[in-house]
Amino acid sequence: MIKACVIGWPISHSRSPIIHGYWLQQHGISGSYTRQPVEPSSLEAFMSGLGNKGYAGCNVTIPHKEAVFNLVSRADDTTERLGAVNTVYIRDGQLLGTNTDGEGFINSLKQGAPELQLANTRTVVLGAGGASVAVVNAILEQGATEVVVANRTREKAEQLRARFGTRVVPIDWDRAPDHLGDCSLLVNTTSLGMRGQPELGIDLSRLGERTVVTDIVYTPLRTRLLEDAAARGNIVVEGLGMLLHQAVRGFSLWFGVTPEVTPELRELVVRDINP
Ligand code: ATR
Repeated sequence: MIKACVIGWPISHSRSPIIHGYWLQQHGISGSYTRQPVEPSSLEAFMSGLGNKGYAGCNVTIPHKEAVFNLVSRADDTTERLGAVNTVYIRDGQLLGTNTDGEGFINSLKQGAPELQLANTRTVVLGAGGASVAVVNAILEQGATEVVVANRTREKAEQLRARFGTRVVPIDWDRAPDHLGDCSLLVNTTSLGMRGQPELGIDLSRLGERTVVTDIVYTPLRTRLLEDAAARGNIVVEGLGMLLHQAVRGFSLWFGVTPEVTPELRELVVRDINP
């Protein structure tokens, strides 16, 4: 039996077991995927014993993504740029690290807004935290002309420019509405709008008619940002898609089958979010 897990601290909220459990069953694979709470102080021991405990690999979530990057033997170029690992797999006894958040984001957009062109266009990103790094990098990798980043703490948006180059354009948080007229995509990567957090109140009056709007928040499934944009007639892509699509490559690396993000899988996770 092949085993994989997701590690984090805390980990009880993770919906990854639902996703991988569905695929294991769908493909008739004898395997398991569990939640493993790992405290920061025991992370190194857990990771070095991963293979001995019988795991083919694991997903990594908050707060361990950066620490695990420093514990793997090797990572691919994208992951090196991000300095954060969300997926670990074992080959020849070595821990290899990768990060599937960017492809999860892009593939979710491809499914939800197939007409969207990121190459040679501008995107506006709200937020400059951990999630933003993967999103900004992914958009740049698609050949975007410019990624305008608005963050409450402007310094963190400046750091993204220092990291990724001059195609990243930091702006003040309250100037974001001025930049919505000529972007192909607007993304919220902040925690605003999540259940239990303050709402993201942004003036969309200048939003381009053809701008696609997406949010990485998926509780609620439709944040107020997405509701407001949809009410204006814009195409919106729910954040849940990123969660589902980022899981695909890990499953494939551990269990040897590339699974699909089906409507049935989406429904299963939706039922967990809105019981
Ligand atoms: P994550 O890894 O999920 O991105 P994070 O690194 O803590 O989490 O980043 C949270 C993001 O939400 C940041 O961009 C943060 O802005 P700051 O860098 O100024 O902290 C943003 N954020 C959180 N609460 C916010 C608020 N009330 N108003 C504006 N931005 C907020």
